Amino acid sequence: MLNLELNTSSGLSRIHVSESMENLKNIVDPSMTILLVDENVLNFHNNKLEGFKHITIPEGEKSKSIENYSRIFAKLLEIGVDRSWRIVGIGGGVTTDLAGFVASTYFRGIAFGFVSTTLLGQVDASIGGKNGINFEGYKNLLGVIRQPEFVICDIDTLKSLPLVEFTDGFAEIIKYGFIKNPEISDFLEDNIEAAFNQDREVLKKIVYESIKVKVNIVQSDERELGERKILNFGHTFAHAIEKLHGLSHGQSVSLGMILATRMSASLGLIHSNVVDKLTLILEKTGLPVKADLDPNNMAETMLKDKKKAGDILQFILLEAEGKAIVHKLKLADLKKILNDLC
Ligand code: GLY
Repeated sequence: MLNLELNTSSGLSRIHVSESMENLKNIVDPSMTILLVDENVLNFHNNKLEGFKHITIPEGEKSKSIENYSRIFAKLLEIGVDRSWRIVGIGGGVTTDLAGFVASTYFRGIAFGFVSTTLLGQVDASIGGKNGINFEGYKNLLGVIRQPEFVICDIDTLKSLPLVEFTDGFAEIIKYGFIKNPEISDFLEDNIEAAFNQDREVLKKIVYESIKVKVNIVQSDERELGERKILNFGHTFAHAIEKLHGLSHGQSVSLGMILATRMSASLGLIHSNVVDKLTLILEKTGLPVKADLDPNNMAETMLKDKKKAGDILQFILLEAEGKAIVHKLKLADLKKILNDLC
C-alpha cells in the first residue's frame, strides 16, 4: 500500500493507494457509519461491505441534483444519523462529490471519507476537497471545500469498470504529465498495454504519482486562488464540449487539452512538437484528438462557464511540457483563435 497525506487549513486527508475496500471496517466503526454507494459498485462489491448500513446512489450525473441531495437527507434522518456518525461515499466522482457535500452540510458538517472506485475519481475527483452538486445546468454550482478524513483508492475496483470509463481516467493522468511532471506521461506511454491489461503495479504507480502532483498543488493553494488553477488545463474547452457534444468528461478533457496546447503553440509559447507528443499519447490510450466543433457555439458556451469574469476567460496554457500558466483572453480574441483551431 502507498500512503499520502494532504494537509490543508480545511483538514488533513489520508490517502491510501491500493488499499482494499474490505478494510473499510478496520478504519471506521460500521455501527456509526452510513455508506452512500453507487448502484453499480453495490452490484459488484456488496459482499465487501457487510455490516454497514447504506443508501444507494443511482449512477450518472443526474444524482448530483438538489432533489437527490434532499432525498438523502430524508433517509439520513429516517436511519437516525446524527453528528456523531460518519458518511463514506463509495463510487466515482459523482458519488464522492455528492457524499462530501451531504456530509459537509448535514448538522453543519459531519466527518466523512471516500472509497474511490474509478480511475478518474482516484486521480482527481476524490482528492482535494471539492464537494458539490449541480444546479440549473451549472456544474458544481453549490459546493464547499472540505477535506475527507481518508480516501481509499482501491485499484482492484478498476477491473469492473466499463472500458470508456476506465479510459476517461487517462485524460487526467496525462494532464498531470503535461502541466507538472512529464515523467508521468512518459511512464504511461511505455506501459500503456500493461495499464490496459490491469497490471496492478503499473496502475498503482500511475495513480500514486498523479495524486502526488495534485496533493502538492492543493496543499499550496487549496482555495484555487493561484496554482490550483492549472488543474483546469483543457477544462474550459472541455466543459463546453461536454455540454454541446455530450462526450464523456475524459473525452472532452482530451479534446480540450489538444485545443489548449495548440493555442499555446499558436501564441508562440511552445514548439509544435509538444502538440504532437500530446496527440500521440492521447491516441494511444484511445481518447479522441479530433472533433467537429463549432467555434461560435464553443465561445458562447465557454463564456457562460462559472469561471467567467466579464468577457474575459482564463485559459491554462503550456510554456513547456510540464509547465502550465494562466492566460487571460477577451471573447473577441477567443473567437478569432477558435476559428483557427476548430
Ligand atoms: N479538478 C480540479 C480541482 O480539483 O481543482
